[in-house]
Amino acid sequence: MIQPAKPDLVTVNIDGKEIAVPKGTNVIEAARLVNVDVPHYCYHPKLAVVGNCRMCLIEMGMPAVDPATKAAVMDPATGKQKINWIPRPQIGCGTTVSPGLHVKTTSPMVKDAREGVMEFLLINHPLDCPICDQAGECKLQEQATGYGRGYSRFIEQKNVKPKRTQLGPRVTLDDERCVLCSRCIRFSRDVAGADVLGFVDRGSYSTLTCHPDKKLDHNYSLNTVDICPVGALTSTDFRFKMRVWFLKQTNTICTESSVGVNSVAWSREGTLYRITPRRNDEVNDTWMADSGRVLYKQVQATDRLTSETALDALIAQAAASFKASAGAIAVVGSGRSSVEEQFLTKKLAAALNASVSLVSRTAQGDKLLISADRNPNVRGALVTGLITALPAAQLTSLAADIDSGKVKTVVSIGEDLIAAGLTAAQLAKVSIVYLGTHANATSAAAKTVIPTVTVFEKAGSFVNQQFRIQKFIQAIPPLAGAHNDLSVLAKLIAAAGAAAPADQIGTLWPLIAAEVPVLSSVLYKTIPDTGVLLDATTWRALPFVEDQTLHFKPAALAAATV
Ligand code: SF4
Ligand code: FES
Repeated sequence: MIQPAKPDLVTVNIDGKEIAVPKGTNVIEAARLVNVDVPHYCYHPKLAVVGNCRMCLIEMGMPAVDPATKAAVMDPATGKQKINWIPRPQIGCGTTVSPGLHVKTTSPMVKDAREGVMEFLLINHPLDCPICDQAGECKLQEQATGYGRGYSRFIEQKNVKPKRTQLGPRVTLDDERCVLCSRCIRFSRDVAGADVLGFVDRGSYSTLTCHPDKKLDHNYSLNTVDICPVGALTSTDFRFKMRVWFLKQTNTICTESSVGVNSVAWSREGTLYRITPRRNDEVNDTWMADSGRVLYKQVQATDRLTSETALDALIAQAAASFKASAGAIAVVGSGRSSVEEQFLTKKLAAALNASVSLVSRTAQGDKLLISADRNPNVRGALVTGLITALPAAQLTSLAADIDSGKVKTVVSIGEDLIAAGLTAAQLAKVSIVYLGTHANATSAAAKTVIPTVTVFEKAGSFVNQQFRIQKFIQAIPPLAGAHNDLSVLAKLIAAAGAAAPADQIGTLWPLIAAEVPVLSSVLYKTIPDTGVLLDATTWRALPFVEDQTLHFKPAALAAATV
C-alpha cells in the first residue's frame, strides 16, 4: 500500500478553536474541519474560485505586529497577541489560510451580512420547495432556513424567468431558480472542456443560457445538475420521478471503463432511480460521465436473462457437458467480473483442467473519466492470477482449438464469443455453458444458460487502472430467476469435482487473502470507501492500453511503485 505525502500545515483560529490545516486551504474548507458550516453557493472544491455569490462572508483578522520592530503587539486585557480585525466582512471561499489567521463565522456582522445576501437572492428566486424537484438537496432551501432573515421586504413584482428550458438532451433549466453562481459554466468550460454555457443580460434580467448554436450535450452534462446548488438545473430523466429522501443510497463503482468512477446507486423498494457520482479525489473528484449513469437501466432491460429452471438443475446440465468433454474444456473469463468472481473462475478452470482466455474491450478514451480499457477489472484478473498477460480482442487461439477438436465445451462468463471473433459454425461445434445477464448470440447458441446478476444486484470489488481495489455494495435484490455469480461459480466448481469453495464475500475473502500475495493484507470489509492502492510492481511493464485520464498518468504509476 502506498501512503500519500503529509502536507505542510498552517495553524489558524476558527470561532475560538485552533486547528492545523494544510497550506493552501481556504476558510470554507478549514472551517469544515472543525465542523463549522460556512454557507456558500458559487464555491465548489473542484472548481475555480470566483467569489460571485457572497454567501460565504466571514469576519477575519491577523495577529498584530509593530510595523517598525515587527514585534508582537500584546493585548493587556487577555495577555495574548492582539488581533487586528478587518472592519468589513470578507469572502471565505477566496481567503486562503495564513499562519495565525483568526476567523469569526457567527459574529453579528457575519449574521447580518448573510441575512442580507439571502434576502437579495430571494428577491426573484421563489421558495417553491413543495413543488421543486430539488427539495431535499437544495442549498437555497437549507440556507434560507438556517441563515435567512425569515421575511422579505420586497413588495414589488418578481421578475419571472423562463421555465423548463431544455439546455441539452439530458438537462432541464428552470431559470427563475438560478442564483447565477456560474458553477455549471465553470464546470463545462474548465472540466468538461466544452464552453457551452454563459450568462446574458444584466441585473435581475441576467439568465443562464447556451451560447448561440450550442447545446449542453457533452457527455458530462449531468454533473451540472449535481453541482447546481439550487433547483435550477435538473436531470430530465430523473425529474419528478421520486423525492430523494425516499431513496436508499448505496456505494457502487461505475463499470464503464477501468477508471472505476466512485458512484452512488439510488433505489427504492428494489428499483433503481438514478446513479450519481461519489467523491474520491484520487479517482474521479466529484464527477462522472452521463453514459455511466444510464447503466442502471440494464437491470430492467427487455433482453435480461432469467430462468424458471432451478439453479441445481442448470448446474446438473453444465456438469453433464463437463463430463462429456473432460480434458477438452475452455473457460472464457471476463474483465467485467469482480475480483471475487475472477478468483473463483480461476478455481473453476483449475478444477476442469481448462485453458483460460479473457476478452479485451477497448475504444477511444476521453482523457477524463472514460479510459481506453472498457473493462472495469482487467487488473483484477491479473492480480488474482486468472490471466498473466493482457487479453486480446479476438479469441483466435480458442477458435483454432475448437476447429482442431481440442476444445469441446466452452464456459463463457458473460462474453459474447461471436463478438470476440468466433464464428457461428465454431459455436455449433461445441457445447456452451453461458453465465450472463443479457441475451446475445452466445446465449442463444448455448446448451446451458445460467442467468446471473448485474453489478447493482451483488457485492464485490474491482481493481482500477491505478491498481486501486475498490468495492461495490449490493443496491437492490437480484431479479427473480437470476443467480449470484459467486454461488453459480462455487456450484460449478463442485460439479467439476473439486471441493466447493465459500460463495459469500465475507467467507471467501480470507481465502483470497491467503492465496493472492498482493491481497494478503486486504479484506473486503476493511477496504475503505475510497479504495486501497495495491503494489503493482509485478505488472508494471505490461503494455496497458490506457492513456492519461483525470487522475491517471501511466508514467507516474511506474514511478510510484518503484
Ligand atoms: S443553473 Fe445552477 S449551477 Fe448554473 S449558474 Fe444557475 S444556480 Fe449556478
Ligand atoms: S461561495 Fe464565496 S462568494 Fe460564493
